[in-house]
Amino acid sequence: MAELEVLTDAAVLIEDGRIASVGRYADLRRATGNVQRGGAGVEVLEVQGVLFPGFVDCHTHAVFGGPRLDDHERRALGLDYRAIAAAGGGILESVRDVRSRPQPELETLARARLATLLHHGSTTIEVKSGYGLDLETELKQLRVIRALGPAQPATLVPTFLGAHEIPPEFRDRRAEYVRLVCEEFIPVVARERLAVACDVFCEPGVFTTAEARAVLTAARRAGLAVKLHADEFAAAGGAELAVELGAVSADHLAAVSDAGIRALGGSATVAVLLPATLLFLGAGRQAPARRLLEAGAALALATDFNPGSSPTVSLPLVMALGVSQLGLRHAEAVVAVTVNGAAAVGLAGERGQIAAGFAADLVLCSVTDWRELAYWVGANLVTAVWTAGSACLRSSAPVSLGLNVKA
Ligand code: NIG
Ligand code: FE
Repeated sequence: MAELEVLTDAAVLIEDGRIASVGRYADLRRATGNVQRGGAGVEVLEVQGVLFPGFVDCHTHAVFGGPRLDDHERRALGLDYRAIAAAGGGILESVRDVRSRPQPELETLARARLATLLHHGSTTIEVKSGYGLDLETELKQLRVIRALGPAQPATLVPTFLGAHEIPPEFRDRRAEYVRLVCEEFIPVVARERLAVACDVFCEPGVFTTAEARAVLTAARRAGLAVKLHADEFAAAGGAELAVELGAVSADHLAAVSDAGIRALGGSATVAVLLPATLLFLGAGRQAPARRLLEAGAALALATDFNPGSSPTVSLPLVMALGVSQLGLRHAEAVVAVTVNGAAAVGLAGERGQIAAGFAADLVLCSVTDWRELAYWVGANLVTAVWTAGSACLRSSAPVSLGLNVKA
């Protein structure tokens, strides 16, 4: 993860939305010159800055209604998660909100938010349901994601998160809700192909490891990939369970145990860390990134974009936090939002690399040294974005913080 291949004076040749080849500008010009003599037209676009693979945001909850400003204020006053929920906030506030909004309205809100993620360089975005907690509303959220897939430039990867919280109407009947998720929700989601993966918020006080195992086992049986919100606040065997079930990712992991670290280190399950979440929550601690890396785990970073614990759209901000809060090397932070982010959504051979055969999803940043992206904390340095070879954003705003200032 600590090694990147960085080319200077480079060029990327794109054909039919995919990268055909990458190399030195002079070599590719010669090669495309030959193509031109063969009759095919080659459009040449010259850009300045650093070109990255389109970023993969492998963990978001981007379909929601309003922001949770009262939660934010209560947290600043010192209230904890439990007290905020008791005061009517928390995940269930967003559930009431999403249940009450018609699908077209949620589409409009999500479309604008996804466009903002794209403007910060995310070209592949995982999006979870989980603010419905009844079949109708979970399907409504997943249908928003399906409708927006072809209607905007980013690739959306839908995940079913019906087990995000126990809905209020099942407060005293939790076993019944878990049964419903397994036997009624998952089969419909799988049959209608509304999600490619299933996730569970596995945490003491939310879903137990036994309940998570039941849900994810049902999901695997239905042909869905599995993911897990694991060991965020307390170690409860979430990471171990994710590895045991062959999950594509185990996410959060701030409280992961030694056994969990060992399990992830010896597995193909990607450890997805979400440093913006812990920062926003004022947790004062972060996941043990270096210990995970030393154990051999593959690390990805994501925004966790959601209205309660991480209202940020910026993967470059998360990269900066990766370096300053998690002790990642700059190269590790880049790999974490590209190659490994792609692996965490099951698209390892497709996204996250500027290499022949990969989707031509590219992000141009106004920097002269690639490490600057994780350095100018909070600035949006993205000046252009392409997905499948098509330009979907050219920024006209001046973005010059380094040595690239023009006289
Ligand atoms: O990933 N941890 C659980 N779920 C979300 C929070 C969602 C919310 O608060 O609305 C998360 O942080
Ligand atoms: Fe999350």
